[in-house]
Amino acid sequence: MSEQSLDGDLCVTDCERCPALVESRSRIVDGVGPSDADLVFVGEAPGANEDEAGEPFVGRSGTVLDDALRDAGVARSDVRITNCVRCRPPDNRDPHADELANCRGYLAAELERLDPELVVTLGKVPSQHLLDRSVAVTQEAGEVFDARVGDATVRLLVCLHPAATLYDRSQADAFEETIRQATALAGLTDGDGANGQSRLGDY
Ligand code: URA
Repeated sequence: MSEQSLDGDLCVTDCERCPALVESRSRIVDGVGPSDADLVFVGEAPGANEDEAGEPFVGRSGTVLDDALRDAGVARSDVRITNCVRCRPPDNRDPHADELANCRGYLAAELERLDPELVVTLGKVPSQHLLDRSVAVTQEAGEVFDARVGDATVRLLVCLHPAATLYDRSQADAFEETIRQATALAGLTDGDGANGQSRLGDY
């Protein structure tokens, strides 16, 4: 098991490993969603909206993700959503390497406990962090790899960050396609989006 422990709700009870983030955060933003989720999305770090709400992906990027999931036939509440780093970096900068390393044990513990069918990395930072190499996300989106995280080996699907879709419709189509692919690979749908088998039923 990972050395960095989480409580029974998969939450970090307290952490002061990153002085700059302790300064910039209002709270620790833990993952949300079922503790037996088959599909887990991993982002970079909370932004201002997430820091305020205490929940990952609740701003514009969250709306893009929620809409793509809904169009694929899956509710946000059916999946787990978490981040590589659980505290908001100052001025929404990318997390530094030492901050990613400091938080890695929490993500490893979360993934070890969840043991999901599929982990989807949203954007460059989580893709590179979990694959431990440079990743060209626009080229590798939709590709599946094995990744070693803590004591677990997870099946990982590279995906664009939802924010990348906000100004470019072609990126939006690619993002939505990868989300459909993710829901099918995780066994939540048959991959045909709203026409497929869905936990939303007739909703
Ligand atoms: N972007 C991320 O990577 N994570 C969030 O929680 C919100 C936006």
